[in-house]
Amino acid sequence: MDSIGNNVKLTLFGASHAPFVGCVIEGLPSGVGIDMDAVRFDLERRRAGNYGYASPRRESDVFTVESGLDGGVLTGEPLRAVFPNKAYDRSAYSPVARPSHADLAAFVKSGGKEDISGGGRYSGRMTLPLTFAGSVCRQLLEKKGITVFSHISFIGSVHDEPFDPVMTKAPKLDPFFPLVSSEKKEAMERLITETREKGDTLACGLECAALGLPVGLGEPLFGGIESTLSRYLFMIPGLRGLSFGDIKEYGSGMNDQFTDGGLTVTNRSCGINGGMANGMPMLVSVWFRPVPSVALMQTGYDLINEKPVPFEIKGRHDTAILPRGAVAVEAAVCLGLYDLLLDFKRN
Ligand SMILES: Cc1cc2nc3c(=O)[nH]c(=O)nc-3n(C[C@H](O)[C@H](O)[C@H](O)COP(=O)(O)O)c2cc1C
Repeated sequence: MDSIGNNVKLTLFGASHAPFVGCVIEGLPSGVGIDMDAVRFDLERRRAGNYGYASPRRESDVFTVESGLDGGVLTGEPLRAVFPNKAYDRSAYSPVARPSHADLAAFVKSGGKEDISGGGRYSGRMTLPLTFAGSVCRQLLEKKGITVFSHISFIGSVHDEPFDPVMTKAPKLDPFFPLVSSEKKEAMERLITETREKGDTLACGLECAALGLPVGLGEPLFGGIESTLSRYLFMIPGLRGLSFGDIKEYGSGMNDQFTDGGLTVTNRSCGINGGMANGMPMLVSVWFRPVPSVALMQTGYDLINEKPVPFEIKGRHDTAILPRGAVAVEAAVCLGLYDLLLDFKRN
């Protein structure tokens, strides 16, 4: 399924080593101005090769908007954006499935028809149009007083401080390496460099917050905030787990006691009860697997001759999905929340 959304339908197309990737977003309002520089800024946050620790694949991430925007204003037609892939090189990929990538499953599923070089449409490159779409929805949410932001909670063994769960405004964060405790950056960068030099990769995690959600946002039963956001978030390759808070052993330690205005003193429920926003900050934590393309000798699977073969990764790869993946997580959260917001009717 390449599409998602009840009210705003997002379709992603293209693949990592195809001529382009892109998106079509249907159901956006007409007459609303979109700041394309702000969209470009979000795209810049996830771009490959900008920062020492990311993959040196150089893509300009230049895009064309083919419909849905006129003079910076949404027209109400489907918003279609196309990103040409310039720096792709299919020659580095052979018909050998790489360990822990989607290659084998995609090859078998498509009967060998789908181009799986660079991960095909299961690649991190698909988070480029996701980020574009999420960035547009971020602006629509901001017009309704809702802000979405995130910080890196850990890279390998180096952990950041958590967000203040009862915060009333966003802390100041470096958009390119967001940390609550900025002094952790040096240790994280050092670990990334040391790990890359060993040919290995790192697990990492992110905490994403939304402030300003109206109380009651979220649909009953199957349409709650947790299930909605999960469907958007698990599109992101390498994202393997998420949680809305930590479990406590006793109810007395898990409950949030009320204070003025129906708010709560603590926020162990992470802003959600019964799938609906409760007025406190919404907090979701995600973790990413270490990037599967380790620069070490491994065993791949020859898809033509159907046998395991010695395998060494070629090409260029990230050491950790963060910080690049942070804006993709924010995008998924913005898309899910905006879709829910269009369902929201209080009373
Ligand atoms: C922004 C981003 C960048 C990524 N960069 C790489 C990379 O350079 N090399 C790699 O092997 N995997 C990379 N990944 C992760 C793989 O795409 C992912 O682990 C793989 O497709 C398997 O997905 P799964 O773990 O969800 O099954 C990246 C993911 C994201 C979101």
